[in-house]
Amino acid sequence: MTTQPDRVIIFDTTLRDGEQSPGATLTVDEKLTIARALARLGVDVIEAGFPYASPGDFEAVQKIAETVGAVGGPTICGLARATQKDIQTCAEALKPAAKPRIHTFLATSDIHLEYKLKKTRAEVLAIVPEMVAYAKSFVEDVEFSPEDAGRSDPEFLYQVLERAISAGATTVNIPDTVGYTTPAEFGALIKGIKENVPNIDQAIISVHGHNDLGLAVANFLEAVKNGARQLECTINGIGERAGNAALEELVMALHVRRSYFNPFLGRAPESTEPLTRIDTKQIHSASRLVSELTGMSVQPNKAIVGANAFAHESGIHQDGVLKHKLTYEIMDAESIGLTQNQIVLGKLSGRNAFRTRLKELGFELSETELNNAFLRFKETADKRKEITDWDLEAIVSDEIRQAPELFRLELVQVSCGDRARPTATVTLRTPDGEERTDAAIGTGPVDAVYKAINRVVEIPNELIEFSVTSVTEGIDALGKVTIRLRHNGAVYSGYAANTDIIVASARAYLSALNRLYGALQTQEKNAPATV
Ligand code: KIV
Ligand code: ZN
Repeated sequence: MTTQPDRVIIFDTTLRDGEQSPGATLTVDEKLTIARALARLGVDVIEAGFPYASPGDFEAVQKIAETVGAVGGPTICGLARATQKDIQTCAEALKPAAKPRIHTFLATSDIHLEYKLKKTRAEVLAIVPEMVAYAKSFVEDVEFSPEDAGRSDPEFLYQVLERAISAGATTVNIPDTVGYTTPAEFGALIKGIKENVPNIDQAIISVHGHNDLGLAVANFLEAVKNGARQLECTINGIGERAGNAALEELVMALHVRRSYFNPFLGRAPESTEPLTRIDTKQIHSASRLVSELTGMSVQPNKAIVGANAFAHESGIHQDGVLKHKLTYEIMDAESIGLTQNQIVLGKLSGRNAFRTRLKELGFELSETELNNAFLRFKETADKRKEITDWDLEAIVSDEIRQAPELFRLELVQVSCGDRARPTATVTLRTPDGEERTDAAIGTGPVDAVYKAINRVVEIPNELIEFSVTSVTEGIDALGKVTIRLRHNGAVYSGYAANTDIIVASARAYLSALNRLYGALQTQEKNAPATV
């Protein structure tokens, strides 16, 4: 029998479902950096990817299993459809992990069965135990998900879950795949599963949910009240379409309101024992890292991690907070690691101090990346007196987000003003090593730069997002630029940070174009040969 935990297990799927957000594609190194941050945050399970989906996904899962998933690390999970090939590939990628988990899934809603799978309920009832048992032949820890459970017939769901557990599933995950259910319905679904699946005490009930109606977090909290003990979530709530339940919101809701939730976990209301293993002080930096590496900006009013989440604008509120914090604050900004910027390094700091601080922040760079980042740090330190952890994160994310640098920015120069027509000149090094210069006029300096770059790169695309934010306060702050562009329906993102926002804009655009160019090259290489 599986012992039910007396706390809530946090299963992070930022690197799998989160990476399914349009344009959020990450390189293997970026995934490793995020996996390390997730381990520091204290998540119990990292869903590192879908190994059968691509060689890149396989490599990322394998590397994360080998490094972050070593002894003492979190459980490393891989996703697999309910087929032998998927499961076998997943098991292979997970081999180096000390605690591997295979997560296999098959849809159970009639809509999915009829239109997507073209299978009968009887076929699903046969496949599920067979594939769970197959996964179990590789690893002890097997999770099964009936996809679109939120719209499945509960009676059929009970039968499927019973068979999955009998075949060895140790966690059964209930996905609201399309974000359709309401909190009361989702809570009732979990209650029904607890009451009607005869062997449910042999598995942990997990929940997975999308935010199409903005209800994912509320649904999960109802699920916890009704017996769910694992929550599948992502940093900043990124994920397919409107995203997944946000880790930071779930964790802080369970933390701030623990006296409300304690009794549902059999504890006294006043128990101060944390309900999750998350080190909440790591939430803020994990959020920034994911936002910078995926290019998915966090809206300023986002709960917990938005720039305004702890800002008080109205005079009445400011006055109240000055008199007593609790008048308008339900949690302390420091509890999520939001401290006043600390000056950590200055222009006289050496490479060793720089490397050590980056390691503490979770970045492990190759020698080349470190050299480049150190040069950028020195350049920035020359312009800014104080270099904070936030500046460092922005500089390093910029450095590792640029790879692979197929087109390289050699020069960007603009002329603009209220009486001038914005004009830009750029020099790029092309992937063939050729240096090309071009110029363009635009509606503003950034538009002129992008038009000049387009004249050299010559890949048509549509800019769908351009945002500039400042890393810290002050006129000399680093500016972060995030852009997303679309080409043939696929979205590519770019990110850059610089004290000069025109330079940051050019680098961010080029970074997205390099991803696009790289993807086109891969497609060309993998295109079937014609005879
Ligand atoms: O949303 C979903 O149903 C999923 C499953 C693979 C768990 O992501
Ligand atoms: Zn999902």
